[in-house]
Amino acid sequence: MRRRLIAANWKLNGTGAFAAEYAAELVPALEGLDPAVEVAVMPPAILLPALRESLNESSGRRVMVGVQDVSAWEAGAYTGEVAASMVADQHGSFAIIGHSERRQYWSESDGRINAKVLQALSAGLDPILCVGETEAEREAGDTEAVVARQIREALADVPESDWRHVCVAYEPVWAIGTGKSATAEQAQAVHAHIRGVLGELDPAATETPVIYGGSVKPETAGELFAQPDIDGGLIGGASLNAADFAAICRAG
Ligand code: G3P
Repeated sequence: MRRRLIAANWKLNGTGAFAAEYAAELVPALEGLDPAVEVAVMPPAILLPALRESLNESSGRRVMVGVQDVSAWEAGAYTGEVAASMVADQHGSFAIIGHSERRQYWSESDGRINAKVLQALSAGLDPILCVGETEAEREAGDTEAVVARQIREALADVPESDWRHVCVAYEPVWAIGTGKSATAEQAQAVHAHIRGVLGELDPAATETPVIYGGSVKPETAGELFAQPDIDGGLIGGASLNAADFAAICRAG
């Protein structure tokens, strides 16, 4: 049975007060949720301790926390970075890595993303590797080649014993923040391709969860998550509303 994960990516949003209000609303809204569905919230790193504390006050361990990026380095003279070990030290469980916005605005290469994935795994975090094509790449018919390259290069050298910690998020760049989600059929086709590429990397990777991100809303989540190769979602804008995020988790 593959893991099922619904994760919130707050991006550059939130405050300590927002985190406390969010936790107080989200936890009761998840009451009765299938315990097999993992729920995680990734605020800006500076807000992780406050959110963790607020969630503990409300729920114990029902909702996990994580970050939206980690350093490619373990420690040292790298101003402004946040090490994977520091996230683990603050009881973080997940790290989004290789988000298209980091590839775009910070020119992150597949090689740099691979270093971050390996840092996350060595610190005991579960990396959520983001892959996806641009509109131009889709229109050129390059979607499968693009995501295959991203996966092969970003997941190189993952130890066989660590595949159980890896998660992949398919986020078509043209669907992120646009309100224009991929259709369930479009997403399923790419997820099935991704699962094949993972299986070529390592037989242990065939059960790696592959989640979908890109304009997921409460009204679209059910059809997407019902697809055989979609194992959950990575939610941006809709996750900033605790009730909407809880509704999406219930579709998971
Ligand atoms: O990481 C998830 C994010 O990229 C999706 O954003 O606003 O389209 O749900 P959004």
